[in-house]
Amino acid sequence: MSAPFHGKVALVTGAGSGIGRTSARAFAARGATVVVADLDAGNAAQTVKLIERGGGRASAVTVDVTDSASVQSMVDTAVSRHGGLHIAHNNAGVFTGLGPLADLDEGQWHAQLAVNLTGVMLAMKYEIRHMRDNGGGVIVNAASNIGDHVRYPGTGAYAASKAAVSTLTRAAALDHIKDGIRINAVSPGASNTSMTFMPGESEAERAARLNGTIPLGRLAETDEIVASVLWLASEESSFVVGHDLVTDGGASA
Ligand SMILES: NC(=O)c1ccc[n+]([C@@H]2O[C@H](COP(=O)([O-])OP(=O)(O)OC[C@H]3O[C@@H](n4cnc5c(N)ncnc54)[C@H](O)[C@@H]3O)[C@@H](O)[C@H]2O)c1
Repeated sequence: MSAPFHGKVALVTGAGSGIGRTSARAFAARGATVVVADLDAGNAAQTVKLIERGGGRASAVTVDVTDSASVQSMVDTAVSRHGGLHIAHNNAGVFTGLGPLADLDEGQWHAQLAVNLTGVMLAMKYEIRHMRDNGGGVIVNAASNIGDHVRYPGTGAYAASKAAVSTLTRAAALDHIKDGIRINAVSPGASNTSMTFMPGESEAERAARLNGTIPLGRLAETDEIVASVLWLASEESSFVVGHDLVTDGGASA
């Protein structure tokens, strides 16, 4: 495999599972040194193990993306351990607060926005502060097709948080392109991770609920979402700025 990210340090939040774990492994397989950041220290350590077993370089950082000091320390740790930070995939997210708006638990609303929106804002803030003083960089944020693109009943809190990530991505991209920092987002559709299971649901039940909503007829595998992330992080997308790359099997076509 070629090594387009050789010599780069890539940070992935939420890299302890799902899309984030696949992203961390993919950056490492393509030559980057990867900082595996997650709230769950055990899962982050497991991702590092998988990368090292494959011959890659990585280290784990425990972070709560809702906490400013924790996010600042994550970026400082990445830089001090590995000598820089060139790529960030701000991927940590949660899918909670489901149900009609009138019945929405306000604590769930705040918790949802804290991770999905404030978490991305804080990560970008500290990543950009480092990157703009050190030759620039590339940032890819995790939005969702349940944001700016499609509507499912009962997902208001999640949808609002993700639509705001798309908007914040465009705003930050404009603010910092002159600092040499290229910022984009990926909006996945329903993907094969633990996030898409309803409580107690089997794989067959999930397929019956979701496959018909996706023109391609199935959920995405995580490497299909990560392919978009890798492209936006690479030089091949050098003229793409402030874009939200919907990768959803046609669900929002
Ligand atoms: N899976 C999908 O169908 C889908 C669709 C659209 C968008 N997304 C988005 O893609 C991203 C990854 O989703 P996934 O399906 O891999 O989810 P996942 O639940 O498998 O992984 C999310 C990771 O984020 C971590 N995390 C949660 N809160 C955190 C916090 N406060 N600080 C640090 N880490 C935290 C979790 O520990 C977990 O490892 C999310 O932002 C999600 O909203 C997923």
